Amino acid sequence: MNENLINKENLPKHIAVIMDGNGRWAKQKGKLRIFGHENGAKAVRETIETAARLGVKNLTLYAFSTENWNRPKLEVDTLMKLLVSALKKEVKTLLDNNIRLNAIGNLDALPEQAQQELMEVMAKSKDNDHMTVTLALSYGSREEIKNAVVQLATKVKNNIISPDDIDETIINNHLYTHDLPDVDLLIRTSGECRISNFLLWQIAYAELYFTDVLWPDFRKDHLIEAILNYQNRERRFGKTSEQLN
Ligand code: FPP
Repeated sequence: MNENLINKENLPKHIAVIMDGNGRWAKQKGKLRIFGHENGAKAVRETIETAARLGVKNLTLYAFSTENWNRPKLEVDTLMKLLVSALKKEVKTLLDNNIRLNAIGNLDALPEQAQQELMEVMAKSKDNDHMTVTLALSYGSREEIKNAVVQLATKVKNNIISPDDIDETIINNHLYTHDLPDVDLLIRTSGECRISNFLLWQIAYAELYFTDVLWPDFRKDHLIEAILNYQNRERRFGKTSEQLN
């Protein structure tokens, strides 16, 4: 896939990825599911590297959903350990490449060590501005929206704002993603065509891209293919083609 075909003037400002298929990838190879997650970490690295090189400003990865806590303990523990080891291993690369690490979700639910490692890398990289990589961890979109509603209701109750002040901007400002632009391109791997409680508010106008590739096999060329596909679509935001021209 030729990277030069990408129009740098029309890059998605925010790409979000549902990294799916690690378990099936491992099963196909007769291995345990955790082998799939370990190899998924390599795909994470290559995706971040490629997105940064192309000049994508925001990349958000669905690494662990609120529902994922229900998986077998061994798998949950392995995913948390993988997160800690990936953070330790990659912090230098993130800093060298001027990348900011961000995290969204119910981070308090993560094991202590994962929280500490995450906070440390986030603090070290907070002023970096080439790209923001956001990890969605213990994340659920309905929970995120519910939290925003509770915060707004509390502000109304305490007379800090009036119900008339509530508009889309205020709601947006109370989401975990308040400092990120809307998602332009949402990619899901492994052939499943679902959103699975990911960034429901933020994908209102996103282009959706589904690929059969299993996450551990996702490489540079697959990302380029997704971006080229995005660039060939006409984004109308409710308008007609004629109005756009
Ligand atoms: C979905 O595959 C993947 C996950 C639930 C976890 C994603 C985690 C990684 C890619 C590992 C490393 C992440 C970081 C940030 C270092 P699945 O297990 O649902 O696969 P299946 O649908 O085939 O069972």
